[in-house]
Amino acid sequence: MNDLIPLVNKLQDVFNTIGSDQIDLPQIVVVGSQSSGKSSVLETIVQKDFLPRGNGIVTRRPLVLQLVNTHIASMLPSSSSSDNTSSDAPDRAEFLHLPNKQFFDFEEVRKEIEAETARVAGQNKGISKTPINLKIFSKNVLNLTLVDLPGVTKVPVGDQPTDIERQVRNLILDYITKPNSVVLAVSPANVDLANSDSLKLARQVDPEAKRTIGVLTKLDLMDAGTNSLDILTGRAYPLKLGFIGVVNRSQADIQNNKPMAEAFKSETEFFQNHPAYRAIAHRCGTTFLTKNLNTILMNHIREKLPDIKAKLNSLIGQTHQELTSYGDPTFTGKTHKGTVVLQLLTRFASDFVAAIDGTSADIST
Ligand code: GDP
Ligand code: NA
Ligand code: MG
Repeated sequence: MNDLIPLVNKLQDVFNTIGSDQIDLPQIVVVGSQSSGKSSVLETIVQKDFLPRGNGIVTRRPLVLQLVNTHIASMLPSSSSSDNTSSDAPDRAEFLHLPNKQFFDFEEVRKEIEAETARVAGQNKGISKTPINLKIFSKNVLNLTLVDLPGVTKVPVGDQPTDIERQVRNLILDYITKPNSVVLAVSPANVDLANSDSLKLARQVDPEAKRTIGVLTKLDLMDAGTNSLDILTGRAYPLKLGFIGVVNRSQADIQNNKPMAEAFKSETEFFQNHPAYRAIAHRCGTTFLTKNLNTILMNHIREKLPDIKAKLNSLIGQTHQELTSYGDPTFTGKTHKGTVVLQLLTRFASDFVAAIDGTSADIST
């Protein structure tokens, strides 16, 4: 997502600085049956090892993961973002339930998610709809929200209630009904797509399949002699945003701590060497999935562009007016802030709109 990160974050920071609402960026919600590979996919999008993963029920509370870009925030003189980071600060994480603690070791983040899951949802496979809120601060991320959810499960186990399936479905629907949610519908390639829970749920909230992106995991685990070419080329199940095949780390890879970079390499080799996928290898895999999400974000912002333009214009107008009413801009801190904001606005606004729009921007007062 690297192209878009500085641009969108600059604009969001301008809005933050003057206390206006953020741009309504989509939140990406990962949906699928239990053990289909949701947490694995989410980790590769974030490019960090930090989520509990494994066979059986592991994700038992929603994880609302807010990515916060630190690079731009640190460059603003009066940014309202409370974090006092410098641009070379290491990536760090914070939980809402532990406001005074900062995590720099992402292995510790994983342990805390596990502990906090057990604290509220119990030790015995129970599920809770109370989310865990986690922020990851990094200079390499786009300000964006990603949601990891418990998987659809049919048969109650442990402390799960008898209507577990209904409860999990309702929980998922709560998140994906929102129109700015992009549904990342995960289906394992070794199970018939006709039985895919994620696609059934996505269809309920997005019947025209406009904001659903299909992700096919476990392509390495298909029976010998079978493949998913039909699905990956859109012939089996049409989605406007398409299906992308990925190969995540296996349970053995996780146990052996296979590094993410190595996993990427094996994934690329898998597609390039596979007789069925060789021809479409360039549009398979995690890197392509991430690029695709970038495009989806771009399109979303393009749709919001008239709103954003109007907001920018009114902000510039307001700031001008305020400055005029204060008189000499060197007297008060507040006025100084206004001057800085006005400079930021005028500098970024037309760049931003031009880059997204592909045309020159009509932002001036
Ligand atoms: P979730 O329950 O949907 O979040 O699934 P997880 O991400 O926890 O993955 C469940 C299990 O499947 C883990 O043991 C993963 O290592 C494994 N897994 C996920 N995706 C793949 C894949 O593409 N290939 C292989 N071989 N294993 C996978
Ligand atoms: Na799992
Ligand atoms: Mg999970």
